[in-house]
Amino acid sequence: MANLLDQLAAMTVVVADTGDIDAIRQFTPRDATTNPSLILAAAQIGTYQELIDRSLRESREVMGANASADAVVHEALDEICVTFGKEILKIVPGRVSTEVDARLSFDTDATIAKARKLIGLYNQAGIGNDRVLIKIASTWEGIRAAERLEKEGIHCNLTLLFGFAQAVACAEAGVTLISPFVGRILDWYKKSTGRDHYPGPEDPGVISVTQIFNYFKTYGYKTEVMGASFRNIDEIIELAGCDLLTISPALLDQLRSSDGELERRLNAFDPAPTQDQIHLDEPAFRQMLAADPMASEKLDEGIRGFCKAIETLEEQLTHRLAALEGGAALTHAAHEIFQLNDLDGDGCITREEWLGSDAVFAALDTDNDGRVAADDVRGGLGAPLAMAARG
Ligand code: E4P
Repeated sequence: MANLLDQLAAMTVVVADTGDIDAIRQFTPRDATTNPSLILAAAQIGTYQELIDRSLRESREVMGANASADAVVHEALDEICVTFGKEILKIVPGRVSTEVDARLSFDTDATIAKARKLIGLYNQAGIGNDRVLIKIASTWEGIRAAERLEKEGIHCNLTLLFGFAQAVACAEAGVTLISPFVGRILDWYKKSTGRDHYPGPEDPGVISVTQIFNYFKTYGYKTEVMGASFRNIDEIIELAGCDLLTISPALLDQLRSSDGELERRLNAFDPAPTQDQIHLDEPAFRQMLAADPMASEKLDEGIRGFCKAIETLEEQLTHRLAALEGGAALTHAAHEIFQLNDLDGDGCITREEWLGSDAVFAALDTDNDGRVAADDVRGGLGAPLAMAARG
């Protein structure tokens, strides 16, 4: 019998939930999802340093030599998310989800502008809108932005979705896909009840996605349901048959090494009975969300968490930009000094040629052979600067 992952892939679109490109390669997901925390985590992996550096250099070019480091880093954030997305699209045949800056979650116009910019970067690389989902937090403002973006052919994945009100508003807005967060719902219930184990069928995250799925299918909404944020494979097993499930590499691996028969739990063609259809305007949405403390708290906390991840990444990028640009300036200065002192142009500076003081020459001439090469000059300049940077 096929392992659980292969059986799942026969009834649900399997999506890899990671920014780690090599991890995606190990599985054969159709799509992949990223978020600010996942991009931050991927940015810590040494093998992707070149992608980060390339994005920083391109952003400097876009912003110009006189732009401030803050402006370059701000630009680089978008570049980096899209760069990872483009690399992922070389592996997956389907779509990649790239998230809009979470700090814009309550600003419809700014969200639309950012989404257009991200999709523009993909388009410039020859990637069509059908291969990208722009991820937006499921706030009222985010859902309104998605509604307008969908009308102009930009497909959206509404994320940080914890409550039924958010799901209904997304479906009514005609968004392409929603990501209800199973595991974070479970986290909230565990913390608030003190109960430390919920078997799959009792898992409140599983119950929430099941309710949304049956409601959407019963009333014919086209919005795809993609369960996200899993804490264990029991949650995934209980949602077999969902349109899509986005799963971390660790849980994909666990599914792949598990046997047993996987039963379909959700069926788009035969949805379980559901509640009466409702329609939500802004006051009704806000009232319903406010009446659900889990969904309101988790939405706010989720936005805060993604903002924090972005700010941490920005700090790291600021340091990296300084290192890259400081390194280039240092090489240039060392080259100038060397050229100025190598009077006979033989590729090294002797004490007689050196225009500076004895003490500096002695410091640069580390092997005391009376000759200073170009690398000695760069090393000599770099050491005090590196010490200064370390503070
Ligand atoms: C995917 O779209 C979500 O961003 C992700 O599944 C969140 O997972 P987490 O709750 O483990 O952070």
